[in-house]
Amino acid sequence: LETLTFNTSADASVVIAHEIADLIRDKASKGENAVLGLATGSSPLKVYDELIRLHKEEGLSFKNVITFNLDEYYPMQPDSVHSYVRFMNENLFDHIDIQEKNIHIPDGTLAMEDVYAFCADYEAKIKQAGGLDLQILGIGRTGHIGFNEPGSTVNSRTRMVTLAAVTRIDAAPSFGGIENVPKRAITMGVKPIMKAKRIVMMAWGSGKAPIVKQMVEGNISMQVPATFLQNHDNTSVFLDEAASEQL
Ligand code: F6R
Repeated sequence: LETLTFNTSADASVVIAHEIADLIRDKASKGENAVLGLATGSSPLKVYDELIRLHKEEGLSFKNVITFNLDEYYPMQPDSVHSYVRFMNENLFDHIDIQEKNIHIPDGTLAMEDVYAFCADYEAKIKQAGGLDLQILGIGRTGHIGFNEPGSTVNSRTRMVTLAAVTRIDAAPSFGGIENVPKRAITMGVKPIMKAKRIVMMAWGSGKAPIVKQMVEGNISMQVPATFLQNHDNTSVFLDEAASEQL
């Protein structure tokens, strides 16, 4: 795995945003769409800020961009303050010119019996769009990518999962207590993530340093699903100083 360490997450995020912008412009110049896999959480926030700035100040258009988010809590209403739909609208989509029909986020309102078909269709839509050109990822302290928690295999598909205890503890403050954090989520599987032509993983802060070390230097194992990225031939791990301190 290629690791790239920057002084600050802000510096790294600008580089990532510019890579995404270059991809979007290159595709647009050929009359093609750029297909992006997107993440929520704190890690990509500065990337989204810079993409919004590039749209507002430098005329970057998202008209040719198709997005697929990694995950959503289950159950979850889209208008909830905790939903990833709301997160994406507030932190990116409301501020750019992306077409609503091009936005895809797993549906937290489905009836349980409809989830399997929804997940198969989600992967079919990615394929139909031409596959993910670039997937951005954060890493959870469990080593999850998306919500593929320890025990997820390299062949795991998009599906309903049970969140690990550590993941729910980390989410508890924003939900006002662990009892309010959903126990499940719908996540893109490891398999469709690994099919992305390019993967940009980011981790900031000393809290991520131990799991970053395992991801980069540890044995490839479903105990740390992020280690599967060692077998992806076009992944870069963007770190700030603090997240890289154990490498
Ligand atoms: C979010 C996601 C998660 C987060 C991870 C890190 O859509 O899929 O895997 O990327 O939990 O979260 P932050 O960035 O908040 O530390």
